[in-house]
Amino acid sequence: MSDTLFARACRREPVERTPVWIMRQAGRYLPEYRALRVNADFLTCCRTPELACEITLQPVRRLDVDAAILFSDILVPLPAMGVEVTFHPCPHLARPVRSAGDVDALRVPDAREATPFVFDAIRLLRRELSPTVPLIGFAGAPFTMATYLVEGGGSKHFEAIKGLLFSDPPTAHALLACCADTVASLLAEQVRAGAQAAMLFDTWAGLLGPADYRAFALPYVRRVFDRVADAAADLGVDVPRIYYAGNAAGWLPACRDTGATVIGLDWRMDLGPARAVLGPSLAVQGNLDPAVLLGPPDQIRQRARLVLEEAGPFGHVFNLGHGILPQTPPEHARVLVDAVREWSSRRAA
Ligand code: CP3
Repeated sequence: MSDTLFARACRREPVERTPVWIMRQAGRYLPEYRALRVNADFLTCCRTPELACEITLQPVRRLDVDAAILFSDILVPLPAMGVEVTFHPCPHLARPVRSAGDVDALRVPDAREATPFVFDAIRLLRRELSPTVPLIGFAGAPFTMATYLVEGGGSKHFEAIKGLLFSDPPTAHALLACCADTVASLLAEQVRAGAQAAMLFDTWAGLLGPADYRAFALPYVRRVFDRVADAAADLGVDVPRIYYAGNAAGWLPACRDTGATVIGLDWRMDLGPARAVLGPSLAVQGNLDPAVLLGPPDQIRQRARLVLEEAGPFGHVFNLGHGILPQTPPEHARVLVDAVREWSSRRAA
């Protein structure tokens, strides 16, 4: 794997073109996914290795992307922590975590016992995928996990999680440590099962100002990536560590200290200035606005080219800045992948 286009771009080595994959590339915008979901609910798909494997492969077949991402969800470890979650399709927790007592009652599960289906799906996928298409494993970053645990689902103003941070910091830190240890076990174990890159989604860290990011998010991300790096070192393999930093403008410099090797960014900032802040040792991933895929093909091609020009030829993995929207016409996703291939290989030639 160390020689795939994706791996070389993550290591900032020269590439003949820019690799591309799409966040949430398996999902509701694909008719083949919706067809499969008629007979199986979302969690059943996540918990059945054959189904998770098949859904992971759907966008690889249709779009010819340069990486696969395991079909799962960041909230899959919750039941083993002692928290029930349902999806309709948005996640909902019947009993959110609000007090010190609630945090005490959480378990830090051993991932091999809690979510064996994740590792079985990874082993299946490694047999099914072409060696040119690496498999990305993932988990939720500790702060984003804690946000769901405390809010109990989506939120408008996030007063429950932010209230906890400022009214009871020791309980907030205990919760974050619990999330970090759970996620570290889950992600390190995915690497041991054969995941060729490890990604943390910090969708909600943008709620924090710079000082609070350094206090409540950064140390826990670092803790997870240290465990992932140890797992990769034990195996003697190079495993890119990708950190999706949602709405990161305020604390972008802190991303240098996360232990990630690739920083995923959304469209709220341009990749050129972001790279100037991140420095020469980090690769970047992103960052086309997913809504661009709702527009016409010519616009998609033009916008893809602008992102490629901002990022420059090396150390860039093309992606959207957030998950693909369910309304996206699947042919538009293909237009994007083809456009990235064409422009970036023309530039390299
Ligand atoms: O293709 C892939 O990228 C792999 C699968 C994947 C899913 N969720 C499948 C899913 C990944 C990487 C995730 C990550 C995830 N899950 C994040 C981080 C990225 C982000 O979007 O910010 C978050 C915040 C979640 C939590 C979550 N799960 C939400 C907010 C939702 C609701 C609706 C939605 O799709 O945005 C889910 C459900 C979910 N996760 C679905 C899928 C395909 C839809 C469920 C269905 O099919 O009914």
